Amino acid sequence: MSRFSLPQDPAFQAMNTSLGFDQRLWPFDVAQSRAHARMLAAQGIIGEEDRDAILSGLDAVERELRDGTFPFREDDEDIHMAVERRLTEIVGAPGGKLHTARSRNDQVITDLAMFTRDAAQRAIAQLNDLRRVLLDVSEAHLDWPLPGYTHLQRAQPVYLSHHLLAYFWMITRDVGRFQAVLDASAELPLGAGALAGVNFDTDRRMVAAELGFTGVTANSVDAVSNRDFALDLLHALSVCATHLSRLGQEVVLWTSSEFGFMTLSDAWSSGSSIMPQKKNPDAAELLRGKAPRVWAHQAALHGVIHALPLTYNKDLQEDKEHLFDAVDTVEVCVAAAAGMLSTATFHRDAMAAAASDEMIAAVDLADLLVKQGTPFREAHGVIARLVREAVESGQTLGAVAVPELGDDAAAVLEQSSWLESKVSEGGTALVRVREQLAQARALVG
Ligand code: ARG
Repeated sequence: MSRFSLPQDPAFQAMNTSLGFDQRLWPFDVAQSRAHARMLAAQGIIGEEDRDAILSGLDAVERELRDGTFPFREDDEDIHMAVERRLTEIVGAPGGKLHTARSRNDQVITDLAMFTRDAAQRAIAQLNDLRRVLLDVSEAHLDWPLPGYTHLQRAQPVYLSHHLLAYFWMITRDVGRFQAVLDASAELPLGAGALAGVNFDTDRRMVAAELGFTGVTANSVDAVSNRDFALDLLHALSVCATHLSRLGQEVVLWTSSEFGFMTLSDAWSSGSSIMPQKKNPDAAELLRGKAPRVWAHQAALHGVIHALPLTYNKDLQEDKEHLFDAVDTVEVCVAAAAGMLSTATFHRDAMAAAASDEMIAAVDLADLLVKQGTPFREAHGVIARLVREAVESGQTLGAVAVPELGDDAAAVLEQSSWLESKVSEGGTALVRVREQLAQARALVG
């Protein structure tokens, strides 16, 4: 029997179905159904025979889903209905008992919490691989100078290791954000029922333990309304995508003939359909280009949840595609970043030539005067005048500075001294970069 006297309008059905995208939740749906059935039997809410029938039926359902032989039907509204319908076809009456003391409202958010936890754990593992790549490449190019830039103008030289380690620390903060997602999704929502709790003495903690949650949600109304951990995951993904877009942009610049600092492996490059000479850094460009869709998903989910009255509203079905696409997008981006970096070649001479422009030692010359007793602002003025003279006369900075400032200035302009003088903690002097590498290695092993 149904409450309805008319079949659903096909256009409504098309709008209402989530099966096309929530199918991927099936491993979580099956796992939570197993845990729920075991708990129902342990609490005497269903019999042990019913439980056993449900469990073996779920095994069969799982096999079909895994093999791609699961017979989905047009009128399956979502993965939850499809699994229960198929279970009941396979095992008969006991299948109809699985949904005792459960609503799709607590079921769907439980699946989503499990998905979120899985995605965050996988992101952390993948980011740890990327961090190891950054460390390996840094170690392999420990003392290779290149210009550091501000405003994309040569500013002060640094070692390539130091520059790349900046990404290590960004990614380390990303890992922290994904860990926070795990904390935010640690409580089991299942057991909240539709919104008010259920009319049975369930053991939610038993289900939580089986599914890897550390506790249970304290309020059933909140449990079925909450999508915070999805927002948190989207935030972590957005920041990570932004970080990777900066790396992508640097690779685009560095692989250009204008910079010539870096060549990508052919495995991470593509050609042009018309210009035979082209070797394009498409993957790096896509690191740039894919980031905005990740933040757009974050903004969209804020839009879905914004002003939504408690508790479950069908709007919340619109959480999944945003989350799924953002997770998938960042996954390919992290893999691309690691693949590209681990196989790239850096060009020591081109970087060193760019870093040997004496203009980038202007601060060092000013600091020489400071060490000799001149106030910094005055020293800045003296060196600015020398810079202008050099630019106007087409000479190097050393050619105009050494005659005026003496041998100490010549010593400052010894190229390795520009770098090795940056001894402050966190600076680019090798002794500091080595400290940093040790600190970083300790984090990822
Ligand atoms: N497919 C739904 C979703 O993704 C499952 C929850 C349906 N609940 C309901 N009360 N209609 O949100």
